[in-house]
Amino acid sequence: MSTSTTRHFLKDTDLSPAEQAEVLDLAIRMKAAPYSVQPFAAEGNGRKTVAVIFDKTSTRTRVSFATGIADMGGNALIINPGEAQIGHKESVEDTAKVLERMVSTIVWRTGAHSGLVAMAENSKVPVINALCDDYHPCQLLADLLAVKEHKGELAGLSMAYLGDAANNMANSYLLAGVTAGMHVRISGPEGYLPAAEIVAAAEQRAAETGGSVLITSDAAEALKGADVVATDTWVSMGQEAEKDARMKLFREYSVDEAAMAQAAPDAVVLHCLPAYRGYEISAGVIDGPQSIVWDEAENRLHAQKALMAWLMHRSGLAVVEGLSPVEGTSALENTVESTF
Ligand code: CP
Ligand code: NVA
Repeated sequence: MSTSTTRHFLKDTDLSPAEQAEVLDLAIRMKAAPYSVQPFAAEGNGRKTVAVIFDKTSTRTRVSFATGIADMGGNALIINPGEAQIGHKESVEDTAKVLERMVSTIVWRTGAHSGLVAMAENSKVPVINALCDDYHPCQLLADLLAVKEHKGELAGLSMAYLGDAANNMANSYLLAGVTAGMHVRISGPEGYLPAAEIVAAAEQRAAETGGSVLITSDAAEALKGADVVATDTWVSMGQEAEKDARMKLFREYSVDEAAMAQAAPDAVVLHCLPAYRGYEISAGVIDGPQSIVWDEAENRLHAQKALMAWLMHRSGLAVVEGLSPVEGTSALENTVESTF
């Protein structure tokens, strides 16, 4: 079972506003000194191996987690789609109970968010959502880091997301953006907007941070003067059968030159990639001067390293210098040797 101190990252709001800021600050520190934090090295008291499980395909997530784990003294055990029996030959609960005895962290890209919740509830090591049908929170840490690097402060910026506004990226832009105190505007056609409970959670978080939420089918309303413009594929993994219909449905939500003319003149452009030029984004925009997508992609590495180190520290499984001690316990007394 989860210990009382184990921290997981299953959706964007699992980090409080202060905690999100702390992870982003740690990412900036670790980007400048890539080998300075070693939670998975023997001397960092961590177990070396991190399980990185994929039920869906990936390029960036796989490479950034594997690289980041190696940078921090660990070993990434990559489990590819079809290689494990999680959820079909063996329950998620039983899988968690086995993995938690061997690895230091479990990273999982899957479909249903409920699977991640079941994994976390049965694991005393951190569980990280590497994308599910509803959220892509690691991507948003990278996106916010890129925006912070280009714009300075995040709080008060307006961020417009256009396209499939019911997908995992839209939900994560909404939740992570308001957590950072941003004014988040989500725009897509009727029937493809965020679910009511996601909007409610975002509004609650925005009330704490001074951010705000706008959900609209009017792309112009979302774009007007926006500091950040974001989009994502119109056909997420698992939706391939709907491809033809979706290509028509989202056409007026394309981030092209006409859309960018409505945003702030110094707006920056985000896309989590893979991108489909000529559909959700034009070649001129993604390859143009306002695009920060390559910094965004690189930041998957730095943001996830910081996240993994932060979760290990906050769970009492390693000590990261410069972070406040774990509340109510001595982080030094709560190392892997004494905890497991
Ligand atoms: N952005 C993203 O998660 O990319 P991959 O699917 O390649 O991991
Ligand atoms: N919405 C996309 C994101 C890919 C990184 C998908 O789920 O396929």
